[in-house]
Amino acid sequence: MKKGLFSKMVATYTVIITISFIIIAAFLSFWFQSYYFAQKEQQLKEEAQFLGGPVIQFFRGGISTADIIQTIEARSKYLKTNIIVTDDYGYVRLVSNPDYDKFIGQQILTSDLDSLRKGLIVKRVGDYGQIFKVPVHTYEVPIAYHGVYKAVIMMSTSVTDLKEPLKDVYEIIWSSALFAIAFACFIIYYFSQKILIKPLKEINNVADKIAKGEVDKRVKLESNDEIGELAYSFNSMADSLEKVEYNRREFLSNVSHEIRSPITSIRGFIGGILDGVIPKDKEKYYLSLTYQEIERLTRLVNDLLDLSAIESGKLKLNTEKVNISEIIRLTVIKFETKIMEKGIKVDVCFNDENIYSVVDRDRITQVITNLIDNAVKYVIEGGYIRISTRFKGGKVYISIFNNGPAIPEEDLKYIWDRFYKVDKSRTSKVSTGLGLPIVRSILTQHEEDIWVENKKNGGVEFTFTLGRAN
Ligand SMILES: Nc1ncnc2c1ncn2[C@@H]1O[C@H](COP(=O)(O)OP(=O)(O)OP(=O)(O)O)[C@@H](O)[C@H]1O
Ligand SMILES: [Mg+2]
Repeated sequence: MKKGLFSKMVATYTVIITISFIIIAAFLSFWFQSYYFAQKEQQLKEEAQFLGGPVIQFFRGGISTADIIQTIEARSKYLKTNIIVTDDYGYVRLVSNPDYDKFIGQQILTSDLDSLRKGLIVKRVGDYGQIFKVPVHTYEVPIAYHGVYKAVIMMSTSVTDLKEPLKDVYEIIWSSALFAIAFACFIIYYFSQKILIKPLKEINNVADKIAKGEVDKRVKLESNDEIGELAYSFNSMADSLEKVEYNRREFLSNVSHEIRSPITSIRGFIGGILDGVIPKDKEKYYLSLTYQEIERLTRLVNDLLDLSAIESGKLKLNTEKVNISEIIRLTVIKFETKIMEKGIKVDVCFNDENIYSVVDRDRITQVITNLIDNAVKYVIEGGYIRISTRFKGGKVYISIFNNGPAIPEEDLKYIWDRFYKVDKSRTSKVSTGLGLPIVRSILTQHEEDIWVENKKNGGVEFTFTLGRAN
């Protein structure tokens, strides 16, 4: 995972953040430089205007050379700027730095004179024909007296000096950007680990464990986001898996148990006959018991195969229009012997002589057979069975009632489970507990419903629905 999602995410965010900060820092630097130059220009302009008065006075002979030079020198030092004053033809008259004394009397401004005469400030970067040793940034400010252009004050700052204060600001901007990038990367690293990577790792670990058979493992995550939802869904999936696994084990143990008891009996009887422990005249009797056990085994295996075929959806329904009342009548006749033996009274109350439904004839016969079989099996001696039908909302409701002991409340929801028997001791010889699961699977496949009720006046009633056809 480290080489995957995490590094990709951190790399992407780092690139985005770095580019963003570089753009911001570059923009800030550029903006600050413009701002600084504008400020500087304004300041020099104001200073030049301020010096303009004494300069004009000097030109008119009102101030001594020493005084004006002192003033210019003072301003020059304060502004860290070299000041040169020329007359209206560009001839140097005053310099702030004695090193430039040799230029006094020389004409250093020619091409800019036109603009200056119009009262415009001229900006220049260069060395003025090697007057200056290093490139300088110069503002040439024209000075007028009573509206007439009289002199030019040139304020020159070496480009290096001018940019000196900017360096500190650039340093602050760029180091802040670097720090912000590093800090943002750290935050991304920390939170993506905490919010995304660690939870995903945990889910992955648990998935691994579940895959290895530890189906009771769960993800312990409580966050209110998509990862939390993923963990929740994952745990639900693990719950289902655990349930399936539990059912599988339970089913296996039930099947083994159900198969073992008849096999043990068969082995006992045949062993007894072979060893001669069972007397010759009883052999037939024990063989008939063996036959019964084999029949039971056969039924068990057939029921299991049916159930698994229905549940896996392999068994396709072969639907046709069938007469339900006819199937019920025929099925009751099949149980005639047992009914007579137990002295049961059977009532069949159809609300219509012929009730039609489009279903799989064999499957629905199996449903009715299993339900009547239960009714006959669990009804009390000399009891009463009633099979009734009624129509409701395009459906036919078929109810099979028998009097006898009610199914205990706590068992009601389990009777549909495979191998579930309420009274295990009493029914163990004749039942497998597969009848109702088969009934329910068949009806589910028909998209129909079945439920059971303990009647108030005693007895149990199973009711199922079928779609009605005319
Ligand atoms: N009509 C009924 N009256 C009382 N209890 C019933 C009735 N039908 C089913 N039961 C209870 O529900 C349990 C499950 O029924 P189911 O038909 O699945 O199994 P079974 O009848 O025991 O075995 P099998 O049908 O496989 O021979 C029964 O063991 C019984 O305890
Ligand atoms: Mg049954």
